[in-house]
Amino acid sequence: MKRNVLLTVTALMILGAMLCFPSAGFAKRGLPDYVVESSCGDNGTAVLIAIGTKYGRTFKIAERISEILCQDGFQVDIRFVKDVTEEDLSGYDAVILGSCIYIEHWHEDAIAFLDQYESALAAKNVAYYCVNALLGMTNIPDAAEMVDKYYIQPMYEDYPEISPLDIGAFAGAINYRILLWYDWFALRMMLMPGGDWTDWEAVDDWGEKISGMLQ
Ligand SMILES: Cc1cc2nc3c(=O)[nH]c(=O)nc-3n(C[C@H](O)[C@H](O)[C@H](O)COP(=O)(O)O)c2cc1C
Repeated sequence: MKRNVLLTVTALMILGAMLCFPSAGFAKRGLPDYVVESSCGDNGTAVLIAIGTKYGRTFKIAERISEILCQDGFQVDIRFVKDVTEEDLSGYDAVILGSCIYIEHWHEDAIAFLDQYESALAAKNVAYYCVNALLGMTNIPDAAEMVDKYYIQPMYEDYPEISPLDIGAFAGAINYRILLWYDWFALRMMLMPGGDWTDWEAVDDWGEKISGMLQ
């Protein structure tokens, strides 16, 4: 009996919390419509930017990097990493793998891609970047060190055949209006603030750095 009361109160609290946050209400949830595969440039060195994204910021960053590379004469395709095959890979001179960080890990599609194609990637110019909230948390003084320790260094250790040109890390965004309910709930429970923290100058700098390394 006591347990039922507890369950009912918990359910009412959850419902109440959802109703009290109007931003959780009516917005379109999940991957935004603007996240579509795209290409730019022609006849240059072929670069694939393969992305694993849940809510689109990793794609927006890929777009920015592709603009820089295309201006510098590369031919660039942005593709969803889960759809890239070994045959596709053979058509690219270089691969940039971009992934969001989701519950302390790189996107599962990015990890599956590396697990499957580590050897094929080892023969190419490769760079990675991850997009996370940690770098946006100005109240965490050692955020950059944590990102390096938990998100960047493991990539060198877990995929030793690949020697990436560089591994970039960028602050992303959390928009509660587009989160799927379970992500919305998980982040609210952790009192995670929403926000848009991407430093676009840092993205441009990294794009130019990679462009220079691929010339
Ligand atoms: C459910 C959930 C879990 C997350 N976990 C982490 C995390 O463990 N560490 C972190 O730094 N950022 C975390 N983030 C923040 C995302 O990495 C950030 O929102 C990023 O911009 C998402 O990229 P995307 O829009 O390409 O999916 C999380 C976001 C969500 C929604």
